Amino acid sequence: MTNLQTSLEFLYDPLRYEQGAPVRELAQLRDKGAVIWVEEHELPQWPGGGGFWLVLSHADCIKVLRNAKLYSSHLGGTQLRDPATPQDLAYIQKMMLNMDPPEHTRLRRLLINAFTSKAVTQLEEQISGHAKDIVDRVTAGATEGECDFVVDIASDMPLLCLADIFGLPQEDRYLMYDWANRVIGYQDPDYASSSAFDQCGGSDIAREALKHRPQPDANGKMPDPRSRSGMDDLYRYAHLLAEHKREQPGDDVVSILLSQVDDEAGRVSIEEFENMFWLFAVAGNETLRNGIPGGMIALLEHPAAWQALQDDPGLLPGAVEEMLRWWTPVMNFRRTATRDTELAGKQIRTGDKVVVSFLSANYDEQEFAQPMVFDIHRAPNPHLSFGYGPHFCLGAQLAVAQMRAIFGELTQRFASVEATAPPRYLRSNFQRGVKSLPIRWRKKLNPQR
Ligand code: HEM
Repeated sequence: MTNLQTSLEFLYDPLRYEQGAPVRELAQLRDKGAVIWVEEHELPQWPGGGGFWLVLSHADCIKVLRNAKLYSSHLGGTQLRDPATPQDLAYIQKMMLNMDPPEHTRLRRLLINAFTSKAVTQLEEQISGHAKDIVDRVTAGATEGECDFVVDIASDMPLLCLADIFGLPQEDRYLMYDWANRVIGYQDPDYASSSAFDQCGGSDIAREALKHRPQPDANGKMPDPRSRSGMDDLYRYAHLLAEHKREQPGDDVVSILLSQVDDEAGRVSIEEFENMFWLFAVAGNETLRNGIPGGMIALLEHPAAWQALQDDPGLLPGAVEEMLRWWTPVMNFRRTATRDTELAGKQIRTGDKVVVSFLSANYDEQEFAQPMVFDIHRAPNPHLSFGYGPHFCLGAQLAVAQMRAIFGELTQRFASVEATAPPRYLRSNFQRGVKSLPIRWRKKLNPQR
């Protein structure tokens, strides 16, 4: 083990991320090369592994992400951490995130068709209503007060939006909160279990799913949430929801998805739907629970940007793109090389793990002028926070709509917001997460609306 490799442990040590993301350290590494080899040592919070190529430059991240034939999402999945067993790998390979063409293309097309422009317009209108309700609930008629921005403002927005997409009763959204906590909690024990289920009055489907909630084994250990048995209740819920939507379709995205028969792409099976449900319930949830507070931290640290948005709401779309770049809610994704190749002068071998660092690419000086500066006027802003190529985030438009709605509501209704304690960060080398962000807010006396 070389000194250099020991000094690279911070890149994958989940504990390191509790102190904040290593943006400056990545800039120093970029100075040395666009792609580096990182050994994976066993650490108290990391099982170790065979090592990986870390792709640091914006241009090389794009080269990897757009070439699914050469850099597979399927062979080893898309997470930095290797699946623990062949069964775990086979399990995640059933999700479209971890598929390659043509299987991936087929499922993606079915989903894209289900997000009709009518459905998206309706979702965007509902999102504006949710943003207003969330701020109403927090302020509850008062002119000033304190809250935890993560718990009281950011967490609920994606849950409400997912409930709309799935066409499920709003009270069932707490189930999704619990499922996402369980998955994320595999690195951070604060999230390993939650009492969210207790809040779930729930539908008949929820009550039935609750009977399948995983239980600890004789040693008190819960099943791995990245295995099928660790999420039995989620699968039960998804199964019953699909049956219900096939029998009684509504005008929600899931009803459209399950009712469509595409001549070329066929029909989505209930098993395929169950895996899509898992992906949406986690991908559409955690990312925003972390991305929205990331945007708030940017504004707290840059009061001039907050002021500019209050004066001119037209700056909001650019500000949201810059928040996404500056924070980078998902820090990396993984691919596996399908044959020997070369990238940035490095010899990549068949089967090598190749990890693209969005956090590094989004600060690449070759692509962004003064990348360390948070600049809401930045244009163009080709950040990679939603990925690139065939797996480009399917929820990007809805994620942006949620961020615009919530920050629009906050900047128009609050005269000021200040932090009352430092944020607490998630223990994760994958999601750039915020666990708490205590703030004090003061309402405007005459909001412009
Ligand atoms: C700020 C919020 C979000 C961020 C930063 C984000 C980030 C990403 C990234 C980087 C990928 C690409 C993965 C890869 O290349 O392997 C992705 C894929 C995906 N995202 Fe998002 N996402 C966000 C919100 C959402 C939302 C709200 C939804 C659903 C409503 C969603 C659903 C998905 C799905 C289904 C995929 C898989 C697409 C595919 O495999 O073709 N995401 N997301």
